[in-house]
Amino acid sequence: MADDYSYVPVIDVGPLVDAGPLGGAVGDRERVAAQIDGACRQSGFFYVVGHGVDAGLQERLQTLSREFFRRPSEEKQRIAMSRGGRAWRGYFRVGDELTSGKPDQKEGLYFGQERATDDPLVAAGTPLHGPNQFPENPAALGEVVLEYMAALTELGKRLMAGIALGLGLSETYFDEHGTRDPLALFRIFNYPPPSPGSDLWGVGEHTDYGLLTILLQDDTGGLEVKSGSSWIAAPPIPGSFVCNIGDMLDRMTGGIYRSTPHRVRNPAPRDRLSFPFFFDPNFFARVGPIDLPSGERAPDDRARRWDKTSVHAFSGTYGDYLLGKVGKVFPQLIAKVL
Ligand code: OGA
Ligand code: NI
Repeated sequence: MADDYSYVPVIDVGPLVDAGPLGGAVGDRERVAAQIDGACRQSGFFYVVGHGVDAGLQERLQTLSREFFRRPSEEKQRIAMSRGGRAWRGYFRVGDELTSGKPDQKEGLYFGQERATDDPLVAAGTPLHGPNQFPENPAALGEVVLEYMAALTELGKRLMAGIALGLGLSETYFDEHGTRDPLALFRIFNYPPPSPGSDLWGVGEHTDYGLLTILLQDDTGGLEVKSGSSWIAAPPIPGSFVCNIGDMLDRMTGGIYRSTPHRVRNPAPRDRLSFPFFFDPNFFARVGPIDLPSGERAPDDRARRWDKTSVHAFSGTYGDYLLGKVGKVFPQLIAKVL
């Protein structure tokens, strides 16, 4: 992988999402897949445009989210994550979530696939599965979140088909290896303006855990991506999502694609909203290295990773990996989740 790059590329993924289940013409899809492959090898980050997700839906989501965060603190606390039990859903306050042991300067809402308490997985006590905690006010937020998650799950599938093509695999490879029934997690974050003199980050340097993150950000800016030993900005581009690969795709590709560290600090004297959607392997999937047609392998990067652990060394299911991470970012909640 080339270590230094100066910008995050913009890719029009129209051919992957258009024209029915198989996407656009084969040649077009392959061209887009090659662009994604290039971006994943270089920075692990790319913007997507031409993604087909309804602009009105995104607007509704943003407006209702802003409304929620303006509600009084006691009201927001009515759906606190500590009341969400095993499902790991609901509201958390500024400072409640830790990155590398430091409190993040953001508040937020955690959501996941909606499952009733009598769903077999929920009844069996599976961590991170269950009903969402939606706010009473604004009442429309819950429905919009579910509609947005459905749209982004579909987009995630299309993008993973493109990633498979780019790796020289069949378009259905990831479907057949853990994502036919993906774990989809969705968060809404509000980063308040930084306190004067504070050196705390909105979210500190980290990598994402799963396969692919699809981020909607408002027009504030503040997202930074690690390039070699320095940082570059991933500023807002209207109509785009920022995509980045997570630890599981790093693991599956033997490090050909790296899960690239990133961080956020709100640069503005007003709230910054962001909407990360995580397209991850099924909770029970055992995610292992792909036998790539190219036969490539990358060197172990453990020593220079932000957390000094290797995504290639762990054994277990994706759920095991994720729960290990939850314990670090929400130490006070993990006992409720397990
Ligand atoms: C994340 C993340 C970036 C943002 O949630 O993992 O990196 O802009 N979010 O909120
Ligand atoms: Ni992230």
